[in-house]
Amino acid sequence: MNYRKKILITGGAGFIGSHVVRRFVNNHPDYLIVNADKLTYAGNLENLKDVESKNNYLFSKTDIVSKESVTGLFNKHEFDGVIHLAAESHVDRSISSPDEFVFTNIVGTVNLLNAALHSWKDAFEDKLFYHISTDEVYGSLGSEGTFTEETPYDPKSPYSASKASSDHMVRAYNHTFGIPVIISNCSNNYGPNQFPEKLIPLVISNIKNNKPIPVYGRGENVRDWLCVKDHALAIDLIYHRGRSGETYNIGGNNEWKNIDLIRLLCRITDKKLGRSPGSSEKLISFVKDRPGHDLRYSIDSSKLQKELGWEPAPDFEALLENTVDWYLSNSSWLENVLSGDYEKYYDSMYSGR
Ligand code: NAD
Ligand code: DAU
Repeated sequence: MNYRKKILITGGAGFIGSHVVRRFVNNHPDYLIVNADKLTYAGNLENLKDVESKNNYLFSKTDIVSKESVTGLFNKHEFDGVIHLAAESHVDRSISSPDEFVFTNIVGTVNLLNAALHSWKDAFEDKLFYHISTDEVYGSLGSEGTFTEETPYDPKSPYSASKASSDHMVRAYNHTFGIPVIISNCSNNYGPNQFPEKLIPLVISNIKNNKPIPVYGRGENVRDWLCVKDHALAIDLIYHRGRSGETYNIGGNNEWKNIDLIRLLCRITDKKLGRSPGSSEKLISFVKDRPGHDLRYSIDSSKLQKELGWEPAPDFEALLENTVDWYLSNSSWLENVLSGDYEKYYDSMYSGR
């Protein structure tokens, strides 16, 4: 079949990547979507069961740190575009073992940039390298202020420093070699298929299993939460209508102190489980803070809203309820990812904290 475009999506078996792959495979049947993923602990092909047999979808088990594998993939498919999500994504893991973040997030990104550059040579028309980044590159805010696209980079964790480095490499390849690039920097995502090392699925899972809910410090840190489907929609819009060389911030306009969000999750989950409302709050356990814990993130996404007409969906509490429903009714998904190595990680991360 002749495809109108061939797009490489990296990290498509992960949380956000699987939503992006699903959206592109279903909404763009005339594109070939190749999902390249190493399948680390965070990558799970179960996330994509509903699209795996579609004609316009291919999976390639690829480690982006391997230059040969990345080059081979470009030689085979002659991609028109890249949407790059593959990364080590968990801040706590970047504190306990930073090396993998340097390899995947920095070296992996450079391997992809080199492969795109060589494959596209100087014929850049209709080509795009779209790099998915995070609001954490801007650092940490006090109680005032918000991140715009002009906010200077000030990453604080090994994770955010590795993402910032990759953003700089992407911009440098645009400036030096002319390769068309776009970067978007998004706030905290929530929704189905998120690995339960991250706050929201971890809290739901621990409530369900009557386990302590670890709250770092006093739970005063603030995050700006966005539904993953809104992020996938923004990525689709930006890929097709964003301006090359530009950066777009993506955020939920939805800031919550961790402790308030956790209490809300207790109320919703208790109701769904038929427990007395909020009874799970007794599981809340204040633990030693994350080293260097960023206090507050807040994203100004007005550029994206004005230029491309994107908006985050309004009713956060209803969407959070849907998310709780998803984790409670997909207990086999949760049990599969909670078993094995994850148990060891959990013990090493939380025992003695
Ligand atoms: P995730 O950890 O759920 O998934 C990452 C995926 O990348 C996994 O499928 C994993 O197998 C794959 N991967 C890891 N190392 C690889 C390698 N060397 N080669 C190939 N594949 C590899 O992450 P996520 O939360 O879905 O985040 C996706 C992207 O979005 C990341 O770049 C992250 O920095 C960014 N981001 C995430 C959030 C968030 O709230 N989760 C917010 C903003 C930006
Ligand atoms: O802001 C975007 C970023 O959001 C992404 O770039 C990252 O990939 C993603 O992991 C996320 O980073 P955070 O560190 O904000 O997410 P996490 O879910 O790990 O933590 C959210 C907040 O909850 C943070 O303030 C730390 C706190 N927390 C987290 C865990 C796992 C707890 O209090 N207890 C916990 O057990």
